[in-house]
Amino acid sequence: MTTKMMAAVAFAQKNEGRFVDELKALLRIPSVSTAPEHVGDVRRAAEFVAAELKRIGMENVRLIETTTAERNGHPLVYADWLHAGKAAPTVLCYGHYDVQPAEPLDEWKTPPFEPTERDGNIYARGAVDDKGQMWMHVKALESLMAAGGGTLPVNVRVIVEGEEEVGGEGIAAFVREHGDQLKADVALVSDTEMFAPELPTLCVGLRGMIYTEIEARGAKVDLHSGMYGGAAPNPFVALAQVIAKLKDENGKILIPGFYDKVQKPTADELKAWKALPFDEEHYRESEVGSSVLTGEPGLSVQERTWARPTLDVHGMPGGFIGAGAKTVIPAKAVAKVSMRLVPDMTPAESFAKYKAYVESIAPKGVALEVRLIHSGDPIVVSTDNSYVKAATEAMREVFGKETVFVRGGGSIPIVGDFVRELKIPTVMMGFGLPDDNLHAPNEKFHLANFYRGIESIVRFLSGVGA
Ligand code: BES
Ligand code: MN
Ligand code: MN
Repeated sequence: MTTKMMAAVAFAQKNEGRFVDELKALLRIPSVSTAPEHVGDVRRAAEFVAAELKRIGMENVRLIETTTAERNGHPLVYADWLHAGKAAPTVLCYGHYDVQPAEPLDEWKTPPFEPTERDGNIYARGAVDDKGQMWMHVKALESLMAAGGGTLPVNVRVIVEGEEEVGGEGIAAFVREHGDQLKADVALVSDTEMFAPELPTLCVGLRGMIYTEIEARGAKVDLHSGMYGGAAPNPFVALAQVIAKLKDENGKILIPGFYDKVQKPTADELKAWKALPFDEEHYRESEVGSSVLTGEPGLSVQERTWARPTLDVHGMPGGFIGAGAKTVIPAKAVAKVSMRLVPDMTPAESFAKYKAYVESIAPKGVALEVRLIHSGDPIVVSTDNSYVKAATEAMREVFGKETVFVRGGGSIPIVGDFVRELKIPTVMMGFGLPDDNLHAPNEKFHLANFYRGIESIVRFLSGVGA
């Protein structure tokens, strides 16, 4: 096993340049899952990934359609290689090939879909979230295949989705209905970050979320604000009043009963989080770039971002947003509002409480409609298994350091389903950095971490198979 593993590591090192060139080709495809005008690009990205899985020797490679009578979905990419024998475990490698919108475009130093190398980083939308990290899986598999003469040290299934950034409904339905086709002993997810540069990190918890829209309707048509102002309701003002009652100045969410199911992190977790190398002032200044940090007093940044629910407003479409001025009372306005959830909150119950509360505080003369766009469960995964051990051993070899365990404030909706539906542990081994600008302009992936990620995955899969 070790000689093959070392051969795979050597293969990966020798082919680094080509791996990056291939990643660039994938990054040039603007697979923005939320944008209807990009459906064709999203499919092209799926086909690109499928073609490469086939080329490296994976079997049963196919696109799985997720379009149903109810919805238009982006395809899943599936592949497997299951000849390592019954005694060897099966690893389910997960990633996503869709990306967030690149806007605002004028904030990018180089165009988001023209991947550019600068200072040891590759800049592009999706560089780290998650095309670059998903590509590490593919390249680790290629390296192992090459070293093993067309064999792998473990059984492997690969599932790559194209809807993670829009809630992952398609893959969730597939796991519910065809979970048997993803039968595995452990899931490997590389879609999270390292806590600090050079610090190998396993993510052991994710927040869930409910993403909603509140639509406010006042007058039946847009009105002249001089002729009708003073008599007609304004849906933007109404939304502002509603939003102001959702959360107080101390970051406390005011929805009745919202915190009922919130579990406190364990004493061990809190102790471990305190011991992490964290400079709050640097975080405020360099990462967030605001004059102060907000949120619940008395709780650390880690507690606030990993173990507490929160509520944010993302945008308020409607009315007049062009240059200059237009004196109009819009007939309708929308607020996009999401809440992050933590164990043991559930999306259904949280949404019901939120909806009832919003409806109860609707200002006079304005009709509110509260819609759920998508949701995902919060999750904490167990660390007490041989796979986590194999992961920390793999990363110790690569980084020369012990792994830290953190939670992530973000969400990967399908991870909860892996645990609940497939009943398998999940190893979240991610290689992003805190300043990689996920979802923001100038997203990047540190190339050294791309290489170290590939080597870590080669070693992990070899270790699990040993
Ligand atoms: N990779 C992120 C999630 C993430 C980032 C987890 C950093 C831990 C650390 C993922 O692609 C993501 O952005 N998810 C969305 C999900 C949502 C749209 C349902 C998110 O968290 O906003
Ligand atoms: Mn991601
Ligand atoms: Mn993302």
